[in-house]
Amino acid sequence: MKRRTTPLALVALAAALLLAAPAMSQQDMTTVPAEGLASKTRLPAVFPHDQHNEKAAIAECTACHHGEKDGKRDPEADTAGIPCSDCHTAAGKPGRTPLMRAYHKQCMGCHLDKKKGPVSCGDCHKPVK
Ligand code: HEC
Ligand code: HEC
Ligand code: HEC
Ligand code: HEC
Repeated sequence: MKRRTTPLALVALAAALLLAAPAMSQQDMTTVPAEGLASKTRLPAVFPHDQHNEKAAIAECTACHHGEKDGKRDPEADTAGIPCSDCHTAAGKPGRTPLMRAYHKQCMGCHLDKKKGPVSCGDCHKPVK
């Protein structure tokens, strides 16, 4: 009996985690997760994922979720659902853009490019309405 209780408990835990997963999908995202960052000096950046992308008329997931090929950025590979921090760490590996810079470059880069969307600190790092 004792030998069976542990695996069963693990199965139950795995099932509970799977059931909890949809609650954390991108539809419910209101800010960019900051778990991977060393410091937390600012409020997390406001980012209602789906609403943002709809309003900004971004059709391609790869506009943000790119991949990696031969140590370089692969603009074709769709990595939607894989955290940026899997590849861009807080400290940054050699030849790799560190996480905060990766976010700032991607978010502000496009906003500057399109001449639309916030580029000043307090317009992203602010309380969620
Ligand atoms: C377009 C939105 C945007 C703007 C504008 C922006 N940031 Fe950020 N910033 C982010 C995102 C996204 C992250 C990473 C995740 C998070 O913190 O929510 C981040 C992370 C940070 C972090 C690391 C996390 C922390 O809280 O310590 C700091 C520090 C920071 N930003 C400072 C600034 C400063 C200073 C400015 C203005 C010069 C600025 N940011 C402008 C989006 C933005
Ligand atoms: C404007 C940039 C942008 C675009 C476009 C975008 N995403 Fe994301 N997405 C993000 C950011 C930023 C995160 C948070 C990444 C992290 O946690 O490291 C994220 C997270 C996710 C997550 C994980 C959700 C979670 O809570 O962990 C999924 C799934 C996802 N995106 C799917 C998609 C799909 C599908 C598309 C295309 C239809 C898409 N994304 C387009 C920026 C974008
Ligand atoms: C599968 C790995 C991988 C994932 C996931 C990933 N990246 Fe990258 N990214 C790379 C590689 C490799 C490069 C090229 C080397 C570098 O600059 O770090 C790169 C480059 C970049 C650059 C360009 C830096 C420059 O100088 O122009 C930005 C910005 C960036 N990534 C932001 C992000 C953001 C934001 C996310 C999450 C939404 C993300 N990346 C997810 C691998 C990844
Ligand atoms: C590929 C382009 C692109 C990228 C990447 C991008 N944005 Fe935007 N963003 C836009 C555009 C375009 C708008 C303006 C939408 C409008 O009001 O028409 C915008 C608007 C916003 C707004 C204001 C929304 C409002 O309702 O007024 C916030 C906040 C924002 N972006 C945060 C972010 C953050 C945080 C990131 C990085 C995780 C990011 N954006 C990445 C294109 C982009």
